[in-house]
Amino acid sequence: MNANTSKPLLLLAFLALATPGGAADSLEFQPGEVWLDTSGKAINAHGGGMLFHAGTYYWYGENKEGRTWLPESTKAWEGSRVDVTGVRCYSSQDLLRWKDEGLVLRAVPDDPAHDLHPSKVCERPKVVFNARTKKFVMWMHIDSEDYKAARAGVAVADSPTGPFRYVESVRPEGQYSRDQTLFQDDDGKAYRIYSSENNKTTYISLLTDDYLKHSGKFARVFEGRHMEAQVVFKHAGKYWFIASGCTGWAPNTARSAVADSIWGPWTELGNPCRGPEAEITFRGQSTFVFPVAGRKDTFIFMADRWNKTNLADSRHLWLPLQFKDGRPVVEWREKWNLSFFAH
Ligand code: GAL
Repeated sequence: MNANTSKPLLLLAFLALATPGGAADSLEFQPGEVWLDTSGKAINAHGGGMLFHAGTYYWYGENKEGRTWLPESTKAWEGSRVDVTGVRCYSSQDLLRWKDEGLVLRAVPDDPAHDLHPSKVCERPKVVFNARTKKFVMWMHIDSEDYKAARAGVAVADSPTGPFRYVESVRPEGQYSRDQTLFQDDDGKAYRIYSSENNKTTYISLLTDDYLKHSGKFARVFEGRHMEAQVVFKHAGKYWFIASGCTGWAPNTARSAVADSIWGPWTELGNPCRGPEAEITFRGQSTFVFPVAGRKDTFIFMADRWNKTNLADSRHLWLPLQFKDGRPVVEWREKWNLSFFAH
């Protein structure tokens, strides 16, 4: 995506900003292209998620920087890696122009035992705001280089742009936890949804009121379906779900599902993607879906197009998500903006 490079585009955007509701309509999302931040650097926020807070969007993701290499311990499944540097955050009001807020959670290079040591794994960070404690709470997948630790890490901050203070990692419900996301319901309850039982089954755990621990209430869903990259969102009173299969950095077919309660029963609805390469999620893997504030029925699907030989150059794929015939549908678009939803 090239949101901020050309002068005519900027002028158009400025004019649009003067028109209420028209702010972002003149710039475009270009899924799979390099997307520059407002300082002209490629946006680096992978496996990420979105928080909308006090009129601003905050995009958090893995900072994939430096050499991509293949450790002996993950060779069998081509699990290449970059060493952990931390979690980066960007802020925006219009979803197209993103300001780099820096590393809001940093690696801890001087303690080899620390969960955030560069030799570990820190993936799929997601942040929610706790209105009761006024804290920003980040959960993430923490692992050892060989992905055998399979833990959930938590960090906390007073401001959306950090710094986040790392608290601890846990094996929730006494089980493995790898790919993960957060979902905050309208009633303020927050849930962590993650690949458990060695990626065979997805778990949904209710977090405690301060969001810092697992409450002990959980459900096993999609048993034996081997899912990763889980995403949960709410629309029209129902809970919607999108995930991938388990093929490492290689893309596969996405799945979707719906339920009346977060606890299920969940009904699978098949692949939500439509268009060229829809059977491999447009060469991407889901990471988050969020509603655009102030716009009815406007949802954005966020995915990562991983580049396993140069992970830092993995691309961001954002596409409009619509509901058609009771299903979530993600159609391929070379270029698009929020005016898409006007039709
Ligand atoms: C993917 C997973 C990513 C990362 C990768 C490692 O399946 O969704 O977050 O863990 O495997 O190869």
